[in-house]
Amino acid sequence: MLISLVRIVRSMAEEIAVGQERASGVNPIHISARDVTVSFGSVTALDGFTADIPRGIVGLLGPNGAGKSTLIKASLGLLVLDRGTISVGGLDPQTQSLQIRDFIGYMPEHDCLIPSINAVELVSYLGMISGMVSRDAIQRSHEMLDFVGIGEERYRPIKSYSTGMKQKVKLAQAIVHDPKLLFLDEPTSGMDPQGREEMLSLVTKMASSEKTIVVSSHILEDLERICDYAVIIDNGKLVRSGEMTTLLAGEEGVRSLTVRGSEQALSGYVRALEQVCQIVDRKDEAGEFTLLIRGCEDGKKVLRLAAENGVQVRSFRPERLDLEEVFLRAFRGGGRDGH
Ligand SMILES: Nc1ncnc2c1ncn2[C@@H]1O[C@H](COP(=O)(O)OP(=O)(O)OP(=O)(O)O)[C@@H](O)[C@H]1O
Ligand SMILES: [Mg+2]
Repeated sequence: MLISLVRIVRSMAEEIAVGQERASGVNPIHISARDVTVSFGSVTALDGFTADIPRGIVGLLGPNGAGKSTLIKASLGLLVLDRGTISVGGLDPQTQSLQIRDFIGYMPEHDCLIPSINAVELVSYLGMISGMVSRDAIQRSHEMLDFVGIGEERYRPIKSYSTGMKQKVKLAQAIVHDPKLLFLDEPTSGMDPQGREEMLSLVTKMASSEKTIVVSSHILEDLERICDYAVIIDNGKLVRSGEMTTLLAGEEGVRSLTVRGSEQALSGYVRALEQVCQIVDRKDEAGEFTLLIRGCEDGKKVLRLAAENGVQVRSFRPERLDLEEVFLRAFRGGGRDGH
């Protein structure tokens, strides 16, 4: 009786969500936060946080205590907002948390497993809590444990598992009910390099089945590899967000130039270049300069000056950053030189 009621509510919620998406045409925004403020006593964990999170694999980045886990919990309806609104797939987690949980999977940051039971029991139990009938939940829990790579160990109590195995079981429980939206809070935490690789590859595999996956992590290299979009948070506020390709593309109009030559030729070239554009950064490495230049739209001039000064151009391309640089610049307050 209870299960059929849960199913009816679930299908109604899905219809509402799909209906709302259809009504608004193709809606690339999956989560929309406006002025979200959450405090714990005197600590303001989210402070007027506003952002739109699109579909795809989205990275949540920020230092310790930035508010990443709080944002995830607020999106799940696990916390009461002091102020502001969040919409998740068109629903309000504050008032529709049960419907939302039906299409959301959550892998918490901290240990959430019951140590005395085995992985099959745990994952199928959580599947039943999500509204699945016992037989389906057991079958699905085996499928998900296969998917995450837990073998015969699935029949051992969870307390005997390594950190990496526990992380995999946490993921299996998050996806047992085939959610459309997944929150993974520090999924590679405590895992060795091989475990990390496996976890990242599972995330990309899941994303190819049209799930939206929000991943928080301190390992920027991991996020850079797997995410389509990044949201940078600090002190409970949005610092920067955007498509990963745009963020990594660096500042518009800035190009990276690597040239090689004698010390004298390189100095002469830099002097000549300064007459036609702005050199915003320079790295010297044994007879090779890597320059970041801005404002030199005419690439031919850069190449001609190189030839005139007797330096060899090794590469000349638009600036490309790594996520760590994007992150550092966001905290410096914008681009290089404050731009
Ligand atoms: N239940 C709570 N009670 C009191 N303070 C809390 C609680 N949860 C979070 N905070 C505080 O809110 C702030 C944001 O915490 P949150 O866990 O969201 O940060 P985070 O970005 O996930 O950090 P981390 O990278 O360490 O996981 C921190 O100052 C934290 O101490
Ligand atoms: Mg956290």
